[in-house]
Amino acid sequence: MQLKLKIAAVCATLLLSSGVAVAEETLAEAMFTPLRQKEVHAVTNKQYKDECGSCHFAYQPGLLPTQSWEKLLNETALAEHFGENAELDADVLAPIKAYVLENAADKSYYKRARKIAKATEGVEAPLRITEVRYIKRKHHEIPERMVKGNKDVKSLSYCDACHTQADKGVFDEDTVRIPNFPDWDD
Ligand code: HEC
Ligand code: HEC
Repeated sequence: MQLKLKIAAVCATLLLSSGVAVAEETLAEAMFTPLRQKEVHAVTNKQYKDECGSCHFAYQPGLLPTQSWEKLLNETALAEHFGENAELDADVLAPIKAYVLENAADKSYYKRARKIAKATEGVEAPLRITEVRYIKRKHHEIPERMVKGNKDVKSLSYCDACHTQADKGVFDEDTVRIPNFPDWDD
């Protein structure tokens, strides 16, 4: 009984100290967070999802470190975003940027985010997730015809074309399906 009370008290303290993030999740979800920390924290911010999920899936902030997001999320950079104009009004950009920076790879305890943080430590911050050493290594064996040459994928940037649970932040190889190549892993 004593011990149980103690555990409850510690949980409550942890919940309180993690503040804003917890407010967006239910208590039960927050308590089970350690079980979900294998992958990447799913996107919880609706504004981010709407604004940054219209041309491609809304990449989880944990897929890049702070310095990369700093380079991407400013007016000048967004006006020339990979050949597209992705400009946002200053009052829309500010909360989106705050959300992303709070959840960047180097601020996250999720396993994959940690790996990304590690892979980008001490190197020039990449503008692309697909340029992160860890991510490159995971995909280097996939033949071009399954990616660029595949009309239902087009580029490695479209994670959700192959990762069926990408929107949940799950990238485990067991959840991969390459369109038009049902037997890719034979
Ligand atoms: C007008 C369309 C458009 C909007 C809106 C947009 N993007 Fe993009 N984004 C692109 C294109 C095009 C690419 C490059 C895709 C490719 O190389 O195949 C890209 C690539 C990216 C990449 C690199 C992906 C990789 O290859 O690893 C990141 C990160 C990114 N966008 C983040 C964002 C964020 C954050 C927002 C919201 C502020 C956003 N994008 C809004 C069009 C858009
Ligand atoms: C053409 C399909 C395709 C696209 C697009 C793609 N992936 Fe993958 N990804 C794969 C395959 C296939 C594997 C498994 C490779 C292996 O280990 O056999 C994989 C593996 C991974 C892994 C490691 C999984 C594990 O269990 O270790 C991560 C993380 C990952 N991808 C993230 C991403 C992200 C983030 C993007 C988008 C920026 C992306 N992938 C885009 C096909 C794809």
